[in-house]
Amino acid sequence: MVKASLSPASERTLYILGAGAIGSLWAAYGYQAGADIRLILRDQNTLGHYRQHGGIRLISANQTWLCPIPADCPESISTPIQHLLITTKAQQTLDALRCIKSHIATQAVMVLLQNGLGIVEQIRREFPRATVLQGSTTEACYQQNRFEYVHAGRGHTFIGSTENDQRTVLLELAESLSFPPLQLSVSDNIDAVLWRKLAINCVINPLTVIHRCRNGELLNSSERRAQIQQIVNEILALSSVLGRSEWVANLYELVTEVATTTAANRSSMLQDVEAGRDTEIDAITGYVCQLAEQHNTPAPMNKQLLDDIKRLPKVTRC
Ligand code: PAF
Repeated sequence: MVKASLSPASERTLYILGAGAIGSLWAAYGYQAGADIRLILRDQNTLGHYRQHGGIRLISANQTWLCPIPADCPESISTPIQHLLITTKAQQTLDALRCIKSHIATQAVMVLLQNGLGIVEQIRREFPRATVLQGSTTEACYQQNRFEYVHAGRGHTFIGSTENDQRTVLLELAESLSFPPLQLSVSDNIDAVLWRKLAINCVINPLTVIHRCRNGELLNSSERRAQIQQIVNEILALSSVLGRSEWVANLYELVTEVATTTAANRSSMLQDVEAGRDTEIDAITGYVCQLAEQHNTPAPMNKQLLDDIKRLPKVTRC
């Protein structure tokens, strides 16, 4: 296995903000590929725990790797951040970015790889001269213990931009973020990719919470399959009003495919609920419900799931 160089951070360093499942997955494979990467952890305390653990432990295909990826907390960042992969939860993104704002170069390139929609516009408002690109992944990864993650299923990852002149930057980024076996492709229609992913998350994430089950177990009963169908129908109706039907053709089959390929995975929302953390429900189902309301399109099942998930108790941390 190739080891990452432990040279100090430079302007070429790729910082990863958000050491949850997806951030840790990219960081661990990046480390194994010898890439110049650094994790940004929440605070000094988290950094201390991370160091005690010796790094991120990644379990994949029954093998375990301990990856002592270089890490910082906001106070210890010493070079301007030019390249930033953002893998925080949607609802934590702005706060996390504000904590490192003084370290982010004005013209930084940021890639947002997270579930949900509605955050990129807010980032662009706060960082008007940065290049903010969007990504979407269906790689499945879950946390097993603190700083320990299981790569539970292979997926596809796309990045893209709604601005046409970004193609060269995108191609370079896709290459530099493709750490085997993770493979990034450039999408010419990232809005469609993100809408499809949002639709998949609207189905799998809240339902796995309601049934407290792994993704694959959603296909186990006719009652669950009927619920999948109902959410799918609501999203298809909304997509048609928005002129996006083409983007979600065969949505039921797509959801079934993702639930099958990530069968062993516990959705990110289920992991959050089980750990007593805030969920991304507002940026996923909440986003869809808001659009449905604006366009007078009924979405009762999505609304019900939004209310149910928001009512779940959270662990209060000091
Ligand atoms: O949020 C998740 O867990 C993932 O996006 C997905 C694709 C549903 C797989 O678990």
